[in-house]
Amino acid sequence: MKTSTSPELTTFAEDVLRGLSSTPKQLSSKYFYDDEGSRLFQEIMKLPEYYLTRAEYKLLTEQSEVIGNAFTDGADAIDLIELGAGDGTKTAVLIEHLLGQKIDFTYSPIDISKEACDALSEKFSVKFPGLKIEPHHGDYFTILDSLRNGTGRRKVILFLGSNIGNFNREQAVDFFRRLRAVMNTGDRIFIGFDMQKDPRVIVRAYDDASGVTAAFNLNLLRRINRELEADFVVENFSHYAQYRPVECAARSFLISLKKQTVHISAVNRSFEFEQWEPIFMEISQKYTAAMIEELAAASGFEITETFLDRENFYCDSLWQPK
Ligand code: AVI
Repeated sequence: MKTSTSPELTTFAEDVLRGLSSTPKQLSSKYFYDDEGSRLFQEIMKLPEYYLTRAEYKLLTEQSEVIGNAFTDGADAIDLIELGAGDGTKTAVLIEHLLGQKIDFTYSPIDISKEACDALSEKFSVKFPGLKIEPHHGDYFTILDSLRNGTGRRKVILFLGSNIGNFNREQAVDFFRRLRAVMNTGDRIFIGFDMQKDPRVIVRAYDDASGVTAAFNLNLLRRINRELEADFVVENFSHYAQYRPVECAARSFLISLKKQTVHISAVNRSFEFEQWEPIFMEISQKYTAAMIEELAAASGFEITETFLDRENFYCDSLWQPK
């Protein structure tokens, strides 16, 4: 007898199916970054309202010497490892400083995307001809585990750009515990946290006047249309951002402007949207010093040193395994 097998769904399709079947509906912001999404994020980082990138860049520039000293802390050689390749603008500040100090180090960007790793390695090999670059693409934890017994040198793992903010608390603790499991006791992790501040400043950062953040969120519907053969009418959804000061959390939503049905062929399902029904898109968690301390302790780390910018807008925190 011939049995019909349903085609395997990709992880993306599975996540979209699960997210749009849940109450409230949600989509994961980790899928924002297709080519267009990555381009829009580059634009976001230049927006006057989006203070995060400038604050971290300034912090790293102004404090590179103390940060570099904290990284080496007596060691004469380190392995600098970056989670998420990014465009390297902020990392370049640290690399320039370490090279200037004649510190013996290698730089390893780790990213799921081979293209992103290669692009950054190419850029840095031109910018810093003497730099030893060892890019790795794939899953962060698998790669870190494979590097664990490598050089015997201290690893300093960079997780910049407030990327941790896109995890809720449970996900953040899980992420750090998994990192802890593949780190040696002498290693360090250096994490960018966006700090609690005037709620109005935060809301503006996620609802900019020129509408780039709105386009960034709506782009995920376009991606679902293209990759999962869906029929979202993007104009029927509107970006809405809010900040809840008690939880220190900014959240963004796409609001359905009318009652509508959307069909997604790849998952063979239609989804009903009520007028004004939200799709939860992204959390951007902000932190207090106490929250950072508590997160470190809950994940098996202690804080080695904390670096704040002059306005207390942003913090890069160096942790070591407990
Ligand atoms: C990548 N991440 C830290 C950004 C943030 O601030 O949450 C993503 C972003 N979303 C809207 N604007 C920027």
